[in-house]
Amino acid sequence: MKKVVITRNINPDMLQKLRKDFEVIVWEADEQPMPREKFLAETRDAHAVLTMLSDKVDEEMLQNAPELKVVANLAVGFDNIDLAAAERREVVIANTPDVLTETTAELAFTLMLTSARRVLEANQELMDGEWSGWSPYHMAGTDVFGKTIGIFGMGSIGVSFARRLKGFNCNVLYHNRSESEEARALGAKLTSFESMLERSDFVLCSAPLTNQTKHTFDKKAFSLMKNSAHFINIGRGAHVVEADLAEAVKSGEIGGAALDVYENEPIGADHPFVGLNNMTLLPHIGSASVATRNNMMNLCVNNIMEVLNGGQAITPVQ
Ligand code: DGY
Repeated sequence: MKKVVITRNINPDMLQKLRKDFEVIVWEADEQPMPREKFLAETRDAHAVLTMLSDKVDEEMLQNAPELKVVANLAVGFDNIDLAAAERREVVIANTPDVLTETTAELAFTLMLTSARRVLEANQELMDGEWSGWSPYHMAGTDVFGKTIGIFGMGSIGVSFARRLKGFNCNVLYHNRSESEEARALGAKLTSFESMLERSDFVLCSAPLTNQTKHTFDKKAFSLMKNSAHFINIGRGAHVVEADLAEAVKSGEIGGAALDVYENEPIGADHPFVGLNNMTLLPHIGSASVATRNNMMNLCVNNIMEVLNGGQAITPVQ
């Protein structure tokens, strides 16, 4: 019987589907990733693995797993996987595009509005019993309506975000490797990275993490942004030089930041972002609606079943 390793607990219906035809090993500790040693030991004779973005699928792991045919990653991003090493060993890598697009764009929008309107700060004041009453500039933030928004990475999440911005009458600029027809149809304009930073009131990072995009948002990038601008990141933490962002927010180089992702996750209370004013911090929940997570799991399971039954992956990344 072929063996499938799943590195976190998934929906029982989907487990059942796999268990009909395969031996399935699941790491059931809900809040903790499968330890690396266990991951290496369990995948040694596995034919398929359903991974999380916190599992490293690298040379060592692939070399260790000669039977492996497919890795289904529960994420659209796959920067945790060494694609070249997988290709050399003819291991199919699949991700979960499309099913999480709208959910993740919604979270990006939530971050933008939360940051613009100081929602967390206002909530905290009230919860602390510190609200002393209405006054004209009390917790006054900034509007999003009619503003200029820059989008770095115009993939499907970027397009979905831009579509929402139409309802806010925003002017949308974007920087991408190539022009996006869908973005053009929405009236968004392709610009240089620098021009996008200089002109935008909000800058969203929704690009995939690659060697080219790593640490794109550094001291220089933040210095080009308006002092009033807000930076939003739902891509990957490593797009940002975190010390530079902390400094830019602290010094008032930019107006604020709203983040869902960090270079080394999870971050703790000792991270330089924690406690800074004008920082909205979420624990990587971009695609975390129950329906979307179920759809992602289902797609992973179907990718595994297709490949192990001799077919093609539905959403291969290569
Ligand atoms: C992804 O799919 O890459 C997201 O970051 C997961 O929430």
